[in-house]
Amino acid sequence: MKSASDRLTREHARQVLGQLDSAIATAEGKPALEAAVKALNTSVPTYSWVGIYLVQGQDLVLDAWAGPAATEHTRIPIGKGVCGFAAKAGRTEIVSDVGKDSRYLECFTSTRAEIVVPILVDGGVIGEIDIDSDQLDAFSSLDREFLEAVARKLAPHCKPALV
Ligand code: SME
Repeated sequence: MKSASDRLTREHARQVLGQLDSAIATAEGKPALEAAVKALNTSVPTYSWVGIYLVQGQDLVLDAWAGPAATEHTRIPIGKGVCGFAAKAGRTEIVSDVGKDSRYLECFTSTRAEIVVPILVDGGVIGEIDIDSDQLDAFSSLDREFLEAVARKLAPHCKPALV
């Protein structure tokens, strides 16, 4: 049973950052992003679904994900949904109850909370980490700090596929 005690602690965040470093050390580009979403999804109980979207033109395009099911939202216009809002604003968005946020685009009926963390290069948004949690109020300022550190590590690996 998941509870507030499943929330990330500082010590756990440190351990997961270490695991992430090992997971992406030998990978480049998309394989590094795939290793990262897998490590985040399996290491933090509240991170029910983890995805990385990359900016392509005016859209966010899903590049890597880990979780129990695929999402139908593989392309989201910048400005739409919590994902599009965070990309447009260039800042992290935390939604503690998705049922109370009119911007929210539903992917999974089990989702209760969401965090979206932009991946920045030279101050511009090139992608983002999107995490859904099945637990209400799952994300704290520690998750924000931790995931912003993860986003900095992933930035060099965010290369959209040529279409
Ligand atoms: N909920 C997001 C859409 C992406 S899914 O969560 C994977 C949003 O509101 O933008």
